[in-house]
Amino acid sequence: MNRPVLLGAAAIAAFCQAQSSVWDGVYTEDQSRRGQALYAKECAACHGSELSGGEEAPPLSGGAFLSNWSGLTLGELFERIRVSMPEGRAGSLSRQQNADILAYILNFNQFPAGKAELQKDTELLKQIRFEAQKTDK
Ligand code: HEC
Repeated sequence: MNRPVLLGAAAIAAFCQAQSSVWDGVYTEDQSRRGQALYAKECAACHGSELSGGEEAPPLSGGAFLSNWSGLTLGELFERIRVSMPEGRAGSLSRQQNADILAYILNFNQFPAGKAELQKDTELLKQIRFEAQKTDK
């Protein structure tokens, strides 16, 4: 493993999360409910209320979506949303709002909820692997 040397608490936090994936309960039910309300307001018009996509917008659930992102990290998906969405109003949502919406997308795609909320820090989110299929550790 080729990890850069970091100092302090951030390094410990990053190390502790290094092995996690979307199957480890990385968001809470409450956070997903907050995200659902935001999704309905900010994303559903294009991506559909069932996350199945629209005329131009791709689906945010199901096989094609999962395989697009599988092998990447939540940090990359978070940045994709943060930098380019909602289309036409990119950057209008806060990091916290984007993290909540991401929690809802995970919930909708049936990744399990857990005890701690999904963070809004990209570096921490990069420690969580997006995996379409659960793999044995
Ligand atoms: C005005 C319509 C519109 C709105 C509103 C919108 N999107 Fe999009 N979204 C698109 C279009 C069109 C694309 C594909 C073109 C592109 O990549 O920019 C896309 C692409 C994406 C992708 C990439 C999907 C993939 O698998 O490659 C993600 C993730 C995404 N949107 C999330 C969101 C989220 C989350 C919101 C709400 C905060 C949102 N979008 C709001 C139109 C929209």
